[in-house]
Amino acid sequence: MRAFTRSGYRDPDQAREARNAMPSESNTMPSDIDLNRPSAARVYDYYLGGAHNFASDREMAERAIEMWPELPLIMQANRAFLRRAVRFCVASGVNQFLDLGSGIPTVGNVHEVARAADPDARVVYVDIDPVAVTHSRSILGDDPRTSVVHADLRRPDLLLQRPEVTGLLDFSRPVAVMMVAVLHFVPDADDPAAVIAGYREAMAPGSFLVVSHATHEGQPRRADEHQQLYQRTATPMTMRSRAELQALLDGFDVVDPGVVYLPLWRPESLDEVDEHPERFTGLAAIGRKR
Ligand SMILES: C[S@@+](CC[C@H](N)C(=O)[O-])C[C@H]1O[C@@H](n2cnc3c(N)ncnc32)[C@H](O)[C@@H]1O
Repeated sequence: MRAFTRSGYRDPDQAREARNAMPSESNTMPSDIDLNRPSAARVYDYYLGGAHNFASDREMAERAIEMWPELPLIMQANRAFLRRAVRFCVASGVNQFLDLGSGIPTVGNVHEVARAADPDARVVYVDIDPVAVTHSRSILGDDPRTSVVHADLRRPDLLLQRPEVTGLLDFSRPVAVMMVAVLHFVPDADDPAAVIAGYREAMAPGSFLVVSHATHEGQPRRADEHQQLYQRTATPMTMRSRAELQALLDGFDVVDPGVVYLPLWRPESLDEVDEHPERFTGLAAIGRKR
C-alpha cells in the first residue's frame, strides 16, 4: 500500500501550496451558507488538504476517514485521473472544457493542466456549491479564457444558455464535458441518463465525456457506510456499478482501456499504479461522441 498523509498530498509542501493558493475564508465566504451542514465540496476539500472547510465538514470527513483510512488516497487518485484525462483531451485536439461539479480549486486545476499543453485552452467551471464558486472566481479573477458558473448541472438546458458558457465555448467544435466525481451526486430519481443526453446532444462529434464515479464494487460494506454518511449533506450519494456506468455512456464510444478503476486509466508513471486497484472504489472512463 502506498504511503499518504491525512491531507492526501504525499508531499506536505504540495498541501501547503494548495492552501496558500487561495485567499482566506473571511475574504470570500458567502453569507447565505449553512455552516452546520456539511457540503460535499468542502468535505472533499478537506480530504485533499485544503483550508476551505468548516467544523461540520471536518467532523464528517474525520468520521469518514476513521471508517475508511484510504479515503484521502482515493481522492488523490481521482485528481490524478482528472489531470491525465485533461492531457488526453488536449493531445486529442480538444482544448475547450466544461467542468461540471468542479469543486473548490486545488493544485492542478483543469485550466492549469490544459494550458500547460495548449496556452489557448478555455475552461468553464460549474458548481452548485456557493463556496466552491466564490473561491473559483477569486482565484481566476478576470482571466478571459476561464469563467465560473453557479449552476445545477442537472439542468443542461439552462446551463448551456448561460452567457458565461456561450461566450467562451464553441459547441460547433469538439468540447470536453467533465463529470469527475460528481455523477454519484445525481440520484436515479433525477435521471442521470437524461442529464447526460442533454449535454451529448449539444456536443459536436469527436467531443469527449470524462467521467469518474464512486462504486460499491470492490468494497461494498465500506461504500455503504460512506453513502450513509453523505445523507447529512444536501447532495446524498448514489454509488453505481461498472455496468450502470457503462450504460450511462450510451451514445459515446468508450476509449481504451474502457471503464476501469481510477489508477488503471492510462497511468503515466509506476507511482500511479497499485496492485489492488479495487481499493480505490472509483471508476473512470472517457467516451468520445460518435
Ligand atoms: C467530490 S467534488 C469533485 C470536484 C472535482 N470535479 C474533482 O473531481 O476533483 C463534487 C462537486 O460536485 C458538486 N456538485 C454536486 N452536485 C452538483 C450539481 N447538481 N450541480 C453542480 N455541481 C454539483 C459539489 O458541490 C462538489 O463541488
